[in-house]
Amino acid sequence: MGKYIIGITGASGSIYGMRLIEECLKAGHEVLLTITKSGKIVMKEEVDLDLDMSPDKVEEKLLKYFKVSRDVLKYYDIDYISGAIASGSFRTDGMIIAPCSMSTVSAIAHGSSNNLLERAADVILKEGRPMLLVPRETPLSVVHLENLLKLARIGVKIVPPMPSFYTHPESIDDIVNNTIGRILDQINIDHNLCKRWS
Ligand SMILES: Cc1cc2nc3c(=O)[nH]c(=O)nc-3n(C[C@H](O)[C@H](O)[C@H](O)COP(=O)(O)O)c2cc1C
Repeated sequence: MGKYIIGITGASGSIYGMRLIEECLKAGHEVLLTITKSGKIVMKEEVDLDLDMSPDKVEEKLLKYFKVSRDVLKYYDIDYISGAIASGSFRTDGMIIAPCSMSTVSAIAHGSSNNLLERAADVILKEGRPMLLVPRETPLSVVHLENLLKLARIGVKIVPPMPSFYTHPESIDDIVNNTIGRILDQINIDHNLCKRWS
């Protein structure tokens, strides 16, 4: 099965990252996870998950949360710059950043590599592997749009969380699943998360 890097940053919408991890694991894929410092702050605020602890404890907590073993979910601390995902020789099937802040969009567009998530994204680009961003901000400035355009032009899939309403969502879960379904479609993972137009 696939091996995907998932990054969670400090944009609003931690729930997208968490649901995505769940679905990738459910589909039998391996997840290599890293979370920025701001990502942890927003996660505490939005999904009530406090990860302000040592990397070992964070991993332990996440494994319990997703009810899986370390064989399928590995956590890499954002400052662990020598982590496997920082190297192009470590093979993966791609990277998804959900949600992706404008700060991280900018860092990737400019090749900053100032933390493990940014470095992993830089590696994905240099190795020509699939990358998908779920950028979240509103309104978007010209700077944001130019950075996103630059990335789209080099093949990065930009999948903002924009729910469709012809599916008649009835809950927040329906709205979140709609976006997660569109993300999974992009990486060819089967799912029944959203109604399809027929
Ligand atoms: C509650 C909260 C919500 C935020 N929402 C967004 C957002 O939707 N989009 C965004 O680009 N930044 C948002 N930010 C700001 C980012 O967290 C901030 O720019 C941070 O530096 C991003 O760092 P990172 O990219 O390393 O995660 C939010 C911050 C907080 C505290």
